[in-house]
Amino acid sequence: MKFTHESIEKNPWLLIVLVTIVVSFGGLVEIVPLFFQKSTTEPIAGLKPYSALRLTGRDVYIREGCYNCHSQMVRPFRAETERYGHYSVAGEFVYDRPFQWGSKRTGPDLARVGGRYSDEWHKTHLNNPRDVVPESNMPNYPWLAENKLVPTDVIPKMRALKLLGHPYSEEEIVAGPAELEGKTEQEALIAYLQGMGTLIKARN
Ligand code: HEC
Repeated sequence: MKFTHESIEKNPWLLIVLVTIVVSFGGLVEIVPLFFQKSTTEPIAGLKPYSALRLTGRDVYIREGCYNCHSQMVRPFRAETERYGHYSVAGEFVYDRPFQWGSKRTGPDLARVGGRYSDEWHKTHLNNPRDVVPESNMPNYPWLAENKLVPTDVIPKMRALKLLGHPYSEEEIVAGPAELEGKTEQEALIAYLQGMGTLIKARN
């Protein structure tokens, strides 16, 4: 068989193999440099791994499936930056495992929600969103205010993240449970929300 354009097009298996090679090469050229670029791998100035309380709140966020309706990535478009603030940059998410960027926005993006509302507002909103936003279709999460945290649960989580390179010191890990003592899931979740995206100015 002569190796011509025509012979490739007439042989689906050969075509599949060659297309796969071309597409993978294109993908690698785009993806591999990202692993080595400082702007995508280095934390932005001031970024620290999550505190014990915020880390626990983040797990509540994931458990409750908040990501089904909320993204955490402000895209670099005028309509987005006018509404949410500075667009998101990769260095903000170095300690997010797994990241919560998402693309589903039944509700607004939350990447820069930190500091936008008071803790009181969040409490009311999580118990019943319609008490503060009458037209809201976000579900109620009243049980978060009742569920107490189990303080020692955070130790293995912090240890696992340390193994993956998050710079927690042994003292921070041991001190973790004290931060959770007597707190509810709602308080942890609010602590998480209030820290979101605050290192880069929330609004222009
Ligand atoms: C069914 C979709 C849905 C789910 C699930 C959901 N939300 Fe929402 N959320 C919304 C909608 C819609 C709004 C806008 C109306 C409002 O403020 O209530 C909103 C608004 C918010 C706001 C205010 C954002 C702003 O900038 O005004 C916060 C904070 C928030 N949600 C947090 C959460 C958290 C935390 C969870 C998980 C415990 C969650 N949401 C789950 C739909 C959802």
